[in-house]
Amino acid sequence: MPPLTPAPGLAASCRTVCYDCHIIHPETTMTIAIYPGTFDPITNGHTDLIQRAARIFDRVIVAIAANPKKAPLFTLAERIALVEGALGTLPNVEVCGFDSLLADFAAAHRATVILRGLRAVSDFEYEFQLAGMNRRLAPNVETMFLTPAETYTFLSSSLVKEVAELGGDVSAFVADKVMAALHNRLR
Ligand code: COA
Repeated sequence: MPPLTPAPGLAASCRTVCYDCHIIHPETTMTIAIYPGTFDPITNGHTDLIQRAARIFDRVIVAIAANPKKAPLFTLAERIALVEGALGTLPNVEVCGFDSLLADFAAAHRATVILRGLRAVSDFEYEFQLAGMNRRLAPNVETMFLTPAETYTFLSSSLVKEVAELGGDVSAFVADKVMAALHNRLR
């Protein structure tokens, strides 16, 4: 069997190989997952989910929705920077902002998976609705769910903001850079 070498132009770290012809085909065989959310701000629960996803999928795109309806505390650019800072270096994870339909964003990035977190049964109804609509809009994209570590099942960005605003300690829930940004914004 000939040695498997990356195709020209592909990063050596790319492990996606066609086992029929032993050539690395870029997007055609890579499983690209999109993890969308508002991330206002990113919490350790999100980070936990992204680390799990990075072990499963070839590429994970953390897609940060502008989501003006949620009146975010941080601008889109700030949320992107906070996510990048909190994640550190994960070679197959990238961070993008978007203000379009998620289904269109997925198609533009050749993603075949939309990844969402399920923390509790109460998340299910909303997630079921989102998944149904996204399937209608993008029939070739599957929504998949991961559960975060049990220690994070009660976490949400709104709760973290509320605790920080009232002077509570959020160091167990967010990265240091996020905590500093919260203190700066809320003091
Ligand atoms: N750990 C901690 N918290 C988590 C979590 C985890 N693993 N997973 C979700 N959450 C929290 C979030 O912090 C957030 O908390 P908040 O409401 O207090 O801010 C909450 O759960 C859910 O928010 P999030 O995951 O950010 O999703 P969202 O509901 O804000 O965003 C989008 C949903 C962005 C995916 C959706 O609005 C979207 O697709 N927008 C693009 C436009 C579009 O296509 N619309 C049609 C959709 S069918």
